[in-house]
Amino acid sequence: MSIPPTTTIQSIAERIKTGQITRIIVLTGAGISTSAGIPDFRTPKTGLYDRLAPLNLPTPESIFHISYFSHSPEPFYAIAQARHPSTLKPTLSHAFLALLAKKNILHFLFTQNIDGLEEDAGVPAEKILWTHASYPDDLMRKAIKTGDVPYCLEPKCSGAIKPEVVFFGESLPEEFDEKVKLIPEADLMLVMGTSLRVAPCSGIPRMMEPGVPRVLINMERCGDMGSRDGDVSILGDCDVGVREFAEALGWRGELEALWEEV
Ligand code: APR
Repeated sequence: MSIPPTTTIQSIAERIKTGQITRIIVLTGAGISTSAGIPDFRTPKTGLYDRLAPLNLPTPESIFHISYFSHSPEPFYAIAQARHPSTLKPTLSHAFLALLAKKNILHFLFTQNIDGLEEDAGVPAEKILWTHASYPDDLMRKAIKTGDVPYCLEPKCSGAIKPEVVFFGESLPEEFDEKVKLIPEADLMLVMGTSLRVAPCSGIPRMMEPGVPRVLINMERCGDMGSRDGDVSILGDCDVGVREFAEALGWRGELEALWEEV
């Protein structure tokens, strides 16, 4: 006979409502932006890496490898444009993160995304680390809009401009080591829309103190999520999962209203 889970989304919601949980660490990935129209990377057929097959890259991830970019930047910019349609509205999942911040219970957000939708939804920048960086404004936005490679304007240089994103083969922002020190202070971890396939972000859920509940809202199981007693998994679409969580919290109306405004 299976032992009923002692921790459920309802019991976690109750602890949030009664002020027992006030410091939530969140880790997000591409899955929270797919309903905004940005494909993720690894979902079969619809994910970016499957769509890159015609380019005959050494491996799909090559497009984001610094050594490949240095001699062939064109595919990166073509993809960047496709992944950044000009008008992007944050998803309900982004709005849920903004609601956590509004209620002062978002301890910190680690995002692997570079679309900037968390901040567009209203999460304060000081609460976010873009672990894979994000695009700078102006010149880069123009390049992403057109898909054309921006080249250095220095006459003697004329090299392709590399965006401020972290390519495979590069190290994460220095701030990462500083921000992971916040993790032991957390009383809840929320992991959303990621396959947990890329280190060091994939290791963040394991950094949680034993006994601290961890919630996964994702289409599929990933990493070691679900292996601990206090783990709760809401498998399926992120936006559906956050609606269920918001319902349990009694915040459904507030969430929908906030999402309407962004
Ligand atoms: N709802 C819930 N889960 C979803 C949804 C959705 N609408 N869409 C996709 N997912 C899930 C997928 O099932 C998968 O588990 O989100 C996860 C996305 O995984 P990846 O495509 O691997 O994206 P991510 O985890 O963000 O990748 C990490 O890899 O290639 C690098 O730099 C890139 O930042 C990226 C890193």
